[in-house]
Amino acid sequence: MKSWKLAAVLLAGVAASVPSPTLAEDGPIARGSRPWMNPRLGPDDRTRLLLSQMTFDEKVALLHGAMAMPFGPFKLPAGAIGSAGFIPGNARLGIPALQESDASLGVTNPLMVRGPGDMSTALPSSLALAATFDPAIAYEGGRVVGTEARAKTINVQLAGGVDLARDPRNGRNFEYAGEDPLLAGVIAGDSIRGIQSTGVISTAKHYALNDQEHNRNTVDSVIGEAAARESDLLAFQIAIERGQPGSIMCSYNLVNGVYACQNDWLLNRVLKGDWGYKGFVMSDWGAVHSLDAFMGGLDQQSGEQLDAKVWFDAPLKEAVKAGKIPTARVDDAAGRVLRAMFAAGLFDRTDKPARIDYDAHADVAQHEAEDAIVLLQNRNNILPLTASAKRIVVIGGHADAGVASGSGSSQVTTPYRKEAILPVASVPIGGEGMMAAFSNVVFHPSPPLTALRSRLKGAQVSFDTGFYPETAAAAAHNADVAIVFVYQPSGEGDDVPSMDLPMGQDALVEAVAAANPNTIVVVESGNPVALPWADKVGAIVEAWYGGARGGEAIARVLTGEVNPSGRLPITWPMSESQLPRPAIPGWTAGPSDRVPVDYNVEGSDVGYRWYARKGETPRYWFGHGLSYTNFTYGNLVVRGGKVLEAEVTATNSGDRAGKDVVQLYLTGRPGGAVRRLVAFQKLSLAPGESRRVKLAGDLRLVADFDAARKRWVIPAGTYRIAVARDAGSAGLATTTTLQAATMKP
Ligand code: BGC
Repeated sequence: MKSWKLAAVLLAGVAASVPSPTLAEDGPIARGSRPWMNPRLGPDDRTRLLLSQMTFDEKVALLHGAMAMPFGPFKLPAGAIGSAGFIPGNARLGIPALQESDASLGVTNPLMVRGPGDMSTALPSSLALAATFDPAIAYEGGRVVGTEARAKTINVQLAGGVDLARDPRNGRNFEYAGEDPLLAGVIAGDSIRGIQSTGVISTAKHYALNDQEHNRNTVDSVIGEAAARESDLLAFQIAIERGQPGSIMCSYNLVNGVYACQNDWLLNRVLKGDWGYKGFVMSDWGAVHSLDAFMGGLDQQSGEQLDAKVWFDAPLKEAVKAGKIPTARVDDAAGRVLRAMFAAGLFDRTDKPARIDYDAHADVAQHEAEDAIVLLQNRNNILPLTASAKRIVVIGGHADAGVASGSGSSQVTTPYRKEAILPVASVPIGGEGMMAAFSNVVFHPSPPLTALRSRLKGAQVSFDTGFYPETAAAAAHNADVAIVFVYQPSGEGDDVPSMDLPMGQDALVEAVAAANPNTIVVVESGNPVALPWADKVGAIVEAWYGGARGGEAIARVLTGEVNPSGRLPITWPMSESQLPRPAIPGWTAGPSDRVPVDYNVEGSDVGYRWYARKGETPRYWFGHGLSYTNFTYGNLVVRGGKVLEAEVTATNSGDRAGKDVVQLYLTGRPGGAVRRLVAFQKLSLAPGESRRVKLAGDLRLVADFDAARKRWVIPAGTYRIAVARDAGSAGLATTTTLQAATMKP
């Protein structure tokens, strides 16, 4: 079996009837006898007061919980409203239950456990969010997710995916924020901050180096400490600093031979030690392999039915009684859970189901999708569409049904999901039996075709399914413009086998492009895909997985109502041959075979840093993205010494309003040439407008991590800094001198 999901769905019974939310309040609160209920005290004091009144068994009860879905012999746990996980409350002490749901893209309703009417707004994929390069949009999207969670009385959202995209075939890259530690950390961090601003605990996940899905339970991420600290761990560190998540979810994989959920180095020394993290660590569902996890730093065993034993119940109690595990560690773990609950205000309110403003939230989703769309190529300014295009044919990609989304535990049930599923979905297209519930390709019902038709009133807009290239080519031949939609299904539980588009879609584009040079291709994908026909088409638009209003966003960009401003958060290689690992490690391994993946090949040079180091030219660099206007930069001034600060004048030199992303890169330092994004800022500029932009570089991006000294180290010397359009361009550059410095980890 590939994952717990398979086990879960094969055993699944029919969804239970919808239980009413249960609240753990225990009558009126007597302040005197429950001093921890005093909201004027800080979370640390309240935790201390509460712990002092708890029995040993009550503390242990906070340290494990079940998957909150009925399947096989397991019932929906009493008190659970139904979703990913549940930790019972404690009526005696007024401790509320934890009701946990997935994920970053919206509040899920797996197996329709809360009933088919329980819907949520589907935001665009997290990779799309990263393409906005806009922390404010991340925060707003987080607020939508948190608001909907709260309205459903969910108080823990399993959101905040921040693993770096080391491989453009990772089935879960769509749930993460790209390949760069600064961008990923900022975007995930502000999305977490948005969720938590609503009083819902968020996680950051999957800690750490969960960078391939194939064999995710047995894959061993092998990496040196410095390389890890400068890449994936730095992304987590930045996300945690900005978002202050109440919880961290440790991952399925091993790191340097030890399961991530019992990895003393990752959990105790780095996360809780060096970073001073005060929240709790929960396991991924089915990721606990022994009681060693408890002393390894895991505080809470989640989805406990999926593990061989509920280690954090009877075995833990016995080990403490036998003196093998100190009671202080139980206090520490329970205290961490409670502290996060106090900090989120869970003790100070009674959550009740509330109405959700789906229209307002869909507006947020649409705004995010619009800012995320990346115009990759635009020969002869074929876009935006003009009034001279009288006959337009839209082809393929189920553009008449909606926009594609990623599959797995993050799949959101949208307000119109029934209509959204492809007509063929009753024959599961994503997997066998009920597995389809997790791996079906779901199209969110925002059809680009409808959205285009409503905007292109002066043109005749026809549709061809694209099932047969010959038919599509004939339709394209008779049109002024052909718009081909292609999509890449990807999702949790496995990687995509290659960067090639499946289902003969490349042949479709080739046939259409041969019939009509005015061909525009819209890609909906969870990753970069091979574009073997790029030279034969006019424009290429990356629309990612666009969420609830993805079709509207695409139509607005194609027609020029919105000027595209997305930038690639992940480099787009020409082919797999340019990757650090051209073949996916362990592709032919058995499901329980240990698969070591050597991340020391690229080390911390993930994505664009790797291609730059190897002198490879990818198809599109990280940071790339065209606009319908032009931006220029001038008068770059960089201040060094103990800081790294830059000022540059950005000008919109075209005739349309637009948004630019000013990207500041470190391109050279005493050791030689490098490429590292050290700061970025998105801004709107009217035609002809200039703005002075101030950027402050994060010095950890300039430094190297010295594992022996446990310090970030910046050698004194000359540093070259550039404002560039993408990670591969020379840009406008200057030098500055930095003082020698060391910084705490
Ligand atoms: C996923 C997590 C998710 C959990 C609960 C796991 O399979 O990896 O991201 O939060 O399930 O649904």
